[in-house]
Amino acid sequence: MRAVDIIIKKRDGEELSREEIEFFIDGFTRGEIPDYQASAWAMAVLLRGMTDRETTDLTMAMAHSGETLDLTGVVPVAVDKHSTGGVGDKTTLVVEPVVAACGLPVGKMSGRGLGFSGGTLDKMESIPGYRTNLSREEFIDQLQREGLVLTGQSGDLAPADGKLYALRDVTGTVPSIPLIASSIMSKKIAAGAQAIVLDVKIGLGAFMENLEEGRKLARLMVAIGELSGRKVVALLSDMNQPLGWAVGNALEVREALDTLRGSGPEDFREHCLVAAAHMLIVGRKAANLETARSMAEGALESGRALESFRRLVQAQGGDVRYVDEPNRLPQALLVETVPASRAGYLLGINAREVGETSVELGAGRARKEDPIDHAVGIEIHHKVGDYVQAGEPLFTIHANDAAKLTAARMRLLAAHQWSTEPVQPLPLFYDVIGG
Ligand code: URA
Repeated sequence: MRAVDIIIKKRDGEELSREEIEFFIDGFTRGEIPDYQASAWAMAVLLRGMTDRETTDLTMAMAHSGETLDLTGVVPVAVDKHSTGGVGDKTTLVVEPVVAACGLPVGKMSGRGLGFSGGTLDKMESIPGYRTNLSREEFIDQLQREGLVLTGQSGDLAPADGKLYALRDVTGTVPSIPLIASSIMSKKIAAGAQAIVLDVKIGLGAFMENLEEGRKLARLMVAIGELSGRKVVALLSDMNQPLGWAVGNALEVREALDTLRGSGPEDFREHCLVAAAHMLIVGRKAANLETARSMAEGALESGRALESFRRLVQAQGGDVRYVDEPNRLPQALLVETVPASRAGYLLGINAREVGETSVELGAGRARKEDPIDHAVGIEIHHKVGDYVQAGEPLFTIHANDAAKLTAARMRLLAAHQWSTEPVQPLPLFYDVIGG
């Protein structure tokens, strides 16, 4: 078999066999197929697409390109949740402790922020001492002991995806549904997930800007799950405006703690309860959504979820005083609340613009190795559909640099769109697929 023939076959719109896909992924992982051939192949896939069968074969080839984690016997059902990435999406920080507090063990390997979307590991590292680099043994031990783990990827899981994603990022081949689906699902399968709740974000602050594309991606990931013997349910959720109020690492941890203490923004709390309820169902802790939801509410309202979060921080070496007294979390030197310059209904708060502004303040990174500033970020004070009076607080900027603060103010003002007519609030969820 030759790599060039596989590229030509896909370029000409033909279906690749499992052997061809395995040959290609194996050769690429071992460095025998060079980056330029893998890039050409990725472009052929982006332009020609793949069948569900090809995408499943690609997923399994990438999942088995390195180490895999087998959680059979460690937990009754290995459940996982994965968000396709968004702005203000601190869901994991609440959902995992809620689910664990309901008696369903959950071990999660999360990622860092890249581009406009934030990453769970960066958020958790706002808590001094919190370790995000647990070894495989530590992961399994803590999952058995505490029933809750939140760390970075341990070991060499799905290395083919890591290599291919880096190439896709610089060759214009990220927005391909089969490539995104196989990238996400290969990592989940390699990490031992048996039941997965996917949060597929749709909108300006997401990879998928329109609902139909999002549905296609969700259906495909559910199909891959079925074909590979995993249970997968995909929630399609809105990402046109930020989720909750806070965007930026320590600000988001504080908002997650507020939510675990029973306050926090209504949209974020609701989002977390729905996601947690679906996890309880796929994890076989509840038979239907109603029961699952009331279990999740109980965990939140009783303070058990907060206690789980505290135990998680302690188990991973974090300073729990930051959980007990969130005012200790990193704070920016310059905090400015910007008022609305006009009255009106909010028509849009461009999530991508808010996310990019937060990155420019220092909360995210342009390149993987860039340092980040945990203290900086943005709080929005209104949601789409709200009526805002002139002079009311519109957003607050947390900055450590005056020039960046000025630039952020201009950009955020432009990110808010207004209407003189009443505007419908945005839905939290559009659909649920699978399950
Ligand atoms: N997230 C991933 O893990 N992979 C993609 O290709 C896109 C989003």
